[in-house]
Amino acid sequence: MKEYLTHPIFGIIADIAKKEGLETYVIGGYVRDLLLRRQSKDIDIVTVGSGIELAQKVAKAIGPRVRVSIFRNFGTAMLRYGDDEIEFVGARKESYMRNSRNPIVENGTLEDDQNRRDFTINALAISLNESDFGTLIDPFNGLTDMEEGIIRTPLDPIITFSDDPLRMMRAIRFATQLKFDIWDETFEAICANKGRIKIISRERIIDEMNKIIMSSKPSIGFKLLDQSGLLEIIFPELCRLKGRDVVQGIGHKDNFYHTLEVLDRITYSTDNLWLRWAALLHDIAKPMTKRFSSESGWTFHSHNFMGAKMIPGIFRQLKLPLNEKMKYVQKLVDLHMRPIVLSEEEVTDSAVRRLLFDAGDDIDDLMTLCEADITSKNSEKVNRYMNNFQLVRQKLKEIEEKDAIRNFQPPVDGDVIMKTFNLTPGREIGIIKTYIKDSILDGKIRNDFKEAFQLMLEKGKELGLIAVLSIEDF
Ligand code: CTP
Repeated sequence: MKEYLTHPIFGIIADIAKKEGLETYVIGGYVRDLLLRRQSKDIDIVTVGSGIELAQKVAKAIGPRVRVSIFRNFGTAMLRYGDDEIEFVGARKESYMRNSRNPIVENGTLEDDQNRRDFTINALAISLNESDFGTLIDPFNGLTDMEEGIIRTPLDPIITFSDDPLRMMRAIRFATQLKFDIWDETFEAICANKGRIKIISRERIIDEMNKIIMSSKPSIGFKLLDQSGLLEIIFPELCRLKGRDVVQGIGHKDNFYHTLEVLDRITYSTDNLWLRWAALLHDIAKPMTKRFSSESGWTFHSHNFMGAKMIPGIFRQLKLPLNEKMKYVQKLVDLHMRPIVLSEEEVTDSAVRRLLFDAGDDIDDLMTLCEADITSKNSEKVNRYMNNFQLVRQKLKEIEEKDAIRNFQPPVDGDVIMKTFNLTPGREIGIIKTYIKDSILDGKIRNDFKEAFQLMLEKGKELGLIAVLSIEDF
C-alpha cells in the first residue's frame, strides 16, 4: 500500500516513530477513504504508546510554529498540516469514542485498538514502521468487505453497538453514503438494540442524519432507519407519513415514500442542506390534515400552513438550529403549493408578483422544491407541470426585471404617510400601506413613488384624512 502514502506527513511521522522506537500506523476513516478514492481531510494516527508525545515530536519536526491541541482526558492530540487535521492517539483496549464524555485511557496493542472500532472497513491500518512500511493490517477482512460493499462490525455487533449506540446510525449513514449493504447479523443487532439510541445525545444523532440527507441518495438511509425501527424513536413525525388508506375504492399516495422520492430528486439540483430539509418536511402535516369525502376524495387542506407551524417544534426536538435556517425551511414548506396552484391556472402577472413578494430571495429555491415535488408516474402529467413551471419561471423573470418585487420596499413608507396627513402612528397608516402594496402587486399602479403618492392621497381622502403636504415637499 506504499503507493497510497503520498502525503508528506507520513514520511515525517515515520522518521520520528523510528527514532523513538514507537510502533505507529495510519488507521480508520482515512485508510478507508484512500482505498475508496474518496476525499478525506482527517488523518488518524495510532501509536502503541503516547499519542500526545508523538504529536509533540512531530510538530517540532515540522516547524516551530506548529501548534498541538491536546485532549488529555481522551489521550489524543491534534495538529494541522496545511489543510489537513492530523489526530494522534495511543492504541487502546476500550471502545473508540471520539465524542464520548468519558475518558478512555487503558493502553493496548494495535490489535486491541482495531477490535474496538465500529466497522471492518473502518478498522484498517497501514503501517508507518520501517520494517513493513505501507503494509495493510486487516484482521477482519475489511478490504474484502469494501470490495463487496458490506458494512459489518469487527466483533459481535451487540458488543460493538453497546460500546457506542450511535454506531447503529453510523452503519446506516455509511450504507447510504457508500451505497453498501449492512450485513444481516449487523442489521439484526440494530433492530434488537434500537432502544439504546435514546442514551445518545440528539446533537450526535442529527449529525448523522444530516450526513444521510447530504448523500446522493438519502432515501436509502431513511428506509433503513425505518426498517430498523430507529426512525420511530428519533423522528416519529416522519413515520406518521407512512401508509395508504383506501375508502370507497379511492386511495392516496404513500406520503413517506413520496417524501423520500422528493428528497432524492432534489439532490440533483442542490447541495443546500436546508433546502433538502424543506423537501423532507414539505408534507409533514399531511397525516393530520387528511380528510375523505365522497365529493372530493382525499384532501390535505392547509397541510402547507400546518406543516410550517410544526417546524419549530420539530427543529427544537431534533436540536436543529432555531434561527434563520429554520425560518427559511418554514417559509418553503408554507409556500410549497403556490407555484403548483399557479401553474394549474392561467399564469397572471398579479399572481406571479404576489408569489415573488412572498418568496423574496428564496423564489429560486421554492421553484426547485416544487419541481422535485412532481413525482407522478403519469408522464403526460409530469410534462404538463414541468412546462407550466417553465412558464412560471419565465414570467417570474419578466416581472422581476420590470417591477423589482423580489426585495420589495414600498415606495411610500409610513413616515411619508404620517407627514402628509399630519398623523401620529395609528391604524390608518397600515390601511394605506396595504392598499398601496396590493395595488402594486395587482398591477394597478407601478412600483413608483409618484404613482404610489397619488394613490395614497386618494385613499387618505376616502378615509377622511386631510393632506397638509404635497409631493413637492418630498
Ligand atoms: N470510530 C468508532 N466508533 C465511533 C466513531 C469512530 O469506532 N462511534 C472510529 C472508526 O474507526 C472511524 C474513526 O474512529 O473510522 C474516525 O472516526 P470519525 O472521524 O468520526 O469518522 P470517519 O470514519 O472518519 O468518517 P467521517 O469522517 O465520514 O465521519
